[in-house]
Amino acid sequence: MRRKMVAGNWKMNKTNIEGVSAIKELVKLTKDYKNIDIIIGAPTIMLEALVKASEGGTVKIAAQNMHYKESGAFTGETSPAMLKSIGVEYVILGHSERREYFFETNQFINEKIKAALAYEITPILCIGEKLEERETGKTFEVIFKQLKEGMANLTKEEAKKVIIAYEPIWAIGTGKTATPAMAEETHKEIRGIITEMFGEEVAHEVIIQYGGSMNANNAAELMAQSNIDGGLVGGASLDVKVFDVVIKAGMTK
Ligand code: PGA
Repeated sequence: MRRKMVAGNWKMNKTNIEGVSAIKELVKLTKDYKNIDIIIGAPTIMLEALVKASEGGTVKIAAQNMHYKESGAFTGETSPAMLKSIGVEYVILGHSERREYFFETNQFINEKIKAALAYEITPILCIGEKLEERETGKTFEVIFKQLKEGMANLTKEEAKKVIIAYEPIWAIGTGKTATPAMAEETHKEIRGIITEMFGEEVAHEVIIQYGGSMNANNAAELMAQSNIDGGLVGGASLDVKVFDVVIKAGMTK
């Protein structure tokens, strides 16, 4: 059985004080939760404080981006060595907002995936199609390219560790969710591409989260699908009590 995993993506929200207080509340609420991995992706500035606030609890902390070099002249960037040094265990990579607003390419994201794995930070690789791509029947082609290029040159052992987050871009922050059947169909295709790239065993083990307007009302139905192993949750992760409902939906999968 694959692990179930619910990750919050706070994006550029909350101050340090708000972040620490939310993590403390979440740690308290989830202290007895079992069989679920709970992650919060937070702005870089608060990562160290959140790692400290989450110590000993069930919640793990993720960065939302990372450079692939260990150090150097890259103004404004954060290296894998830096994240590792403060105890960050996960990193969200290739989010559609990074691809769109910061022009990140599959090749650049691939370098980051390799760097994260080299530093034993678990990457959450985001993929997904735009509305016009879905409407013109290009979804498979788009996710195929994102996976082929984003996970290029990984060994099977490395590929198993990558968490894939399928986030149809038209569903992010829009309130429009893919129907459970629609999401399941794409998740199945993703597992098929992973089978082709790395074989059955890896495809069977790899965790694939759904993201895009997942919330307290639709999480259970989405995560009940056999190829959906959890969620990457933006808006609905900002309120701890709402996020808790989503986590519980993942636990009862
Ligand atoms: P959303 O964001 O849940 O607010 O749609 C998801 C994401 O972008 O990771």
